[in-house]
Amino acid sequence: MAKILYEGKSKVILEGRDDKSALVYYKDTATAFDGKKKEDLNGKGKLNAAISHLIYGRLEENGIETHLLEVVDDTSALVKKAEIVMVEVIVRNVAAGSFSKKYGVPEGTELKNTTIEFSLKDDTLGDPQINESQVTALGIATADELNQMKVQALRINEILSKIFDNVGIRLVDYKLEFGRYEDRLILCDEISPDSCRFWDKETNKKLDKDRFRRDMGNVLDGYQDVLERLQV
Ligand code: TYD
Repeated sequence: MAKILYEGKSKVILEGRDDKSALVYYKDTATAFDGKKKEDLNGKGKLNAAISHLIYGRLEENGIETHLLEVVDDTSALVKKAEIVMVEVIVRNVAAGSFSKKYGVPEGTELKNTTIEFSLKDDTLGDPQINESQVTALGIATADELNQMKVQALRINEILSKIFDNVGIRLVDYKLEFGRYEDRLILCDEISPDSCRFWDKETNKKLDKDRFRRDMGNVLDGYQDVLERLQV
């Protein structure tokens, strides 16, 4: 068994083939509210791995560099070992979640333009929102890196919006993470129903982790539905 480099809430990062790669293992554990709510959902790791790998493949085809090197099995992949930028990039097309609460906008309101916001990647602080001058003031990322992340996030949003629209899914909002690799920033972490809000276009049925956060039941049926739609 390879050495564990880091264990997160839903993934384990193990030593890769060399010091430029790592092995990501997707766990079945579901967490919400900065880890305060936690449960094992049998098969979640497999579903998220399959969905994320499918999406990363499509992004690569469209010229976005991701950390994905090689899918190893149902629950793990070899990735480029990058230094994660400690801000989460939140992309929104439709109001939901914390945005709806904070700005008093009903969930489901279509936004006139895509919004991009940053939050500090720190569970102990509850991942607080942070602005660009604060990110640079704290030395978390440079202005140039922030700019690169915004440009890439908008490009990723264009690609993903098309992919999901084609399979009858509304891409409401999601979180991206980037990492420093050699001389550039690449897309890291995962894109899955754990980190996105996916709603059925016709019925607005939630197909993502909100089913877990809000105790709506049938959590993995939603994930399975997303996977099956992407596979066609
Ligand atoms: P947001 O509405 O800010 O937070 P919450 O889920 O608490 O209402 O989340 C926007 C999107 O980003 C949503 O699809 C969940 C995702 N996200 C994460 O995956 N991890 C995070 O730490 C945060 C803050 C958001």
